Amino acid sequence: MDAHRPEHLTEAPAAGSRLSAKDLTLAYDRHEICRGLSLDIPDGSFTVIVGPNGCGKSTLLRSLARLLVPRAGAVLLDGRSLRQVAPRTAAQTIGLLPQGATAPDGITVADLVARGRFPHRRLLRDTRATDRAAVEGAMRATGTTELADRAVNELSGGQRQRVWVAMALAQETPMLLLDEPTTYLDIAHQIDLLELFAGLNRQGRTMVAVLHDLNQAARYGTHLVAMRDGAIVAQGAPAEVVTPQTVEDVFGLEVLVVDDPVTGTPMIVPRGRT
Ligand SMILES: Nc1ncnc2c1ncn2[C@@H]1O[C@H](COP(=O)(O)OP(=O)(O)OP(=O)(O)O)[C@@H](O)[C@H]1O
Ligand SMILES: [Mg+2]
Repeated sequence: MDAHRPEHLTEAPAAGSRLSAKDLTLAYDRHEICRGLSLDIPDGSFTVIVGPNGCGKSTLLRSLARLLVPRAGAVLLDGRSLRQVAPRTAAQTIGLLPQGATAPDGITVADLVARGRFPHRRLLRDTRATDRAAVEGAMRATGTTELADRAVNELSGGQRQRVWVAMALAQETPMLLLDEPTTYLDIAHQIDLLELFAGLNRQGRTMVAVLHDLNQAARYGTHLVAMRDGAIVAQGAPAEVVTPQTVEDVFGLEVLVVDDPVTGTPMIVPRGRT
């Protein structure tokens, strides 16, 4: 287990960005959430998006995953507008764990996780050995194997969250977008999942996660993006983003930033609201 990643502090940014946002305007009806937002997701990074409730993190993530059509601008995958990429190709490339997903009534854990394989199948009935291996691997990795036959809607919040993560993992995409993947999890399961994501990232997957815990963001993220009011306020290595000034600008919170005694990454200690 490699919990300690202080090398992030010195890691040069990745050269390319298969996934990027150019001049995005995102809106719900008349309600504009962001305007002219541009963002490159560095290939091979573990990008962590942080920011206050309602600032547009989920909205941005949904647009990166093709679930929300931009009002203006574009999300680019390998240089092409995501709207021009076939849905199946997009789903084989970008996986999303949405925030607050709800499962169809009565569906079992095994069946929900297997849905992660849909983009890979020619016929929905046509389950191959590779699909079964991916589903089993994802359930093992998230500790949900023993829940396989349970109804998803009868699980605890934390169990259910791990099942959704398993479904996203089973999709086996080179890019994985995770909206608050550790919400509802006890601290040990939070660390388990973050370690799992860090391991996938080391194996070459590009990970993008929304996290509320700044100390976990600084520990696991290789690239941090801080948002406020639909705009990117700061981005870069954890030590560049997790500073007293940025935390105050973004959250209106006065903090001390100390070295995490375990990893050496920046760790915040709140003093109070400003
Ligand atoms: N489906 C929707 N229809 C209309 N407005 C929406 C919708 N989803 C989100 N919003 C609004 O868009 C804004 C941004 O929401 P978003 O979910 O992107 O925030 P967030 O940064 O993910 O917040 P949180 O940390 O609470 O998850 C909020 O003001 C929210 O009320
Ligand atoms: Mg959200």
